[in-house]
Formats: sequence, structure tokens, C-alpha cells
Amino acid sequence: MKHLLKMGDLTPDEVAHILDVADELKAQQKAGGTGPLLKGKSVALMFSKNSTRTRTSFEVGVYQLGGLGNYMNAATELQSGRGEPLKDTARVLGRYYDCVVWRTYRQSDLEEFAEFAGVPVINGLTDYAHPCQVLADLMTIRERRGALAGQKLCFVGDGSNMANSLIVGGLLSGMKVDCVCPHGYRPAADVLMFAHKYGSAFRLLEDPAEGVKDADVVVTAVWNTAAPGTSESESRLRDFAGFQLTSGLLKAAKPDCMVLHCLPAHRGEEISTAVFEAHADEIFTEAENRLHVQKAVLAVLLAGK
Ligand code: CP
Repeated sequence: MKHLLKMGDLTPDEVAHILDVADELKAQQKAGGTGPLLKGKSVALMFSKNSTRTRTSFEVGVYQLGGLGNYMNAATELQSGRGEPLKDTARVLGRYYDCVVWRTYRQSDLEEFAEFAGVPVINGLTDYAHPCQVLADLMTIRERRGALAGQKLCFVGDGSNMANSLIVGGLLSGMKVDCVCPHGYRPAADVLMFAHKYGSAFRLLEDPAEGVKDADVVVTAVWNTAAPGTSESESRLRDFAGFQLTSGLLKAAKPDCMVLHCLPAHRGEEISTAVFEAHADEIFTEAENRLHVQKAVLAVLLAGK
């Protein structure tokens, strides 16, 4: 494992190993702290978009591991925001830092950056993938259920970064995965090609009721990403009618079904307030696990864990 750019970069054993290290680091942190695995190491935390969880959990995680984390707003503070070529920024930061975390738009930009940086690069979210979030989701499910293999996971929402990463991460972990998206909001073609190799363990559906039936875990994420009142927002509200996780919809799931949401949540759109609050402990443990699982990724990439 040289970088973490997408879930498809990982083997099933590598996913399991990251989760094992995350469990170990979480237990150590609860017992007083982890060792200084990143002593003397520095991590660039480069963000081209807003973030609450990814930014702060990486900042705190690097600190807890004894390293230096430097946040930088790539859009307004770095010369890359004024046109300096990506590959030049990558070659400079790679000479100062031991690792770069980057949140940006295009996966192809992230891949180009990783090609030139000369140090490990971690995807802090692109339009295509959110591997750190999905590793935290898998950690949370395994922590609560004891195992991932055989669990039925259903994603309900937009077939974008979260769907792409959950499908791959879930299948690599031996889960059955249903992905429910409206027509026109399907996951990436390469992800669907990957998923179809898993035969009946994967289904792409358009009816949320069919997907959540007998699910062990239901996951959603914001699907109304457009500014309120815009025509894009209005058309998304129309296209995703019936895609809200409500108590009624979840009656078809297993009685002890978990509900996860990567946050921030739009209550009344992709999830009802009642469902959100009924599953708040799972959802905020999922958010907490961002910290532990990202520490594990850093420990694997930079400290040979
Ligand atoms: N889930 C997630 O990535 O949260 P942020 O956008 O706040 O980082």
C-alpha cells in the first residue's frame, strides 16, 4: 500500500489489517494514548473544499500520534489556487512532508498529484471516492456486529463518492451490497464492473423498499448537494422522491438494523429526524471512528504497522 486514493487500491487483507490497527489504536487511545508512531513525521492537510470531520480528525490524529499536521486551504492560501501546476505543488510538498492528505474535486487531479509527490497521498474526498469515510463505516459495523462477512449492507442515495467506495469496500470485506439510486444517479462504470464480478452479492436497484429488505446496515448520505432554491436542487428533490430513510421504510430491514450517515445530514431530505435521532449513537460513533481509522492508515503508510 503506497497511497490511499480509492478503496479499489486495497486488497481484502489490507482492509482487514487497517481495521485491526484502528481497533488497536482506539483501545490504546481510550486507555491513555497511543505511542508516538509519527514522531518526527509531518503531514500536509490540504483542503480545496470545506470540511469539519476530515480536517479535524486528521489534525487531532496526527497530533495524537506525535507528528506535525499542517492544515492549508488549497483554494485560497496556496499558489495552486492561483494556477501553479499541480505536479509542481506535489513535487514541492513531497520534499517537505512525509505524507499529503488532499480533499479536492477530481479524482484524476488526486491521481496526478500522487504520481508526482514521491510520498504517500491520502484521499480526503473527491467526487469519485471517500475511502477514509468508508473505512470508518466498516470499522463501526465490525465493532458493533463482530464481523463484516455475510452482513447485508444497503446504500440508499446518490451513486457518487460514498456509493462508489461503499460498494467496493463492502464487497472486499465479504458483505452483500445493495445500492439503490434513482436512474441517472448511478455509481461509476468501473465500480459497477468491479461489483458485477461478485455475482449475486451485489445488486443495483432503483426501489429503496427492495434494497432495505432484510438489511443489517442501511447507509445514506446527502443527495441534495445543490444550493437551496436552484433548479438543480428542485430537480434533485424530484428525482430522489421516496429516497428518504424513514421509520416506515426501515420496517422492512432487520429489526436491529444499523443506520449510518457520513454527515453532515440534511434532515427531512435523505433521512428523517426520527431515524437520525434513533441511530445517533451509531452515526456519531461512525464519525468518531474517522479519527481512529485515519490514524491506522497513517500508521500503516508511515510507521510500518
Ligand atoms: N463525512 C465527511 O467527510 O465530513 P466532512 O465533510 O465534515 O469532512
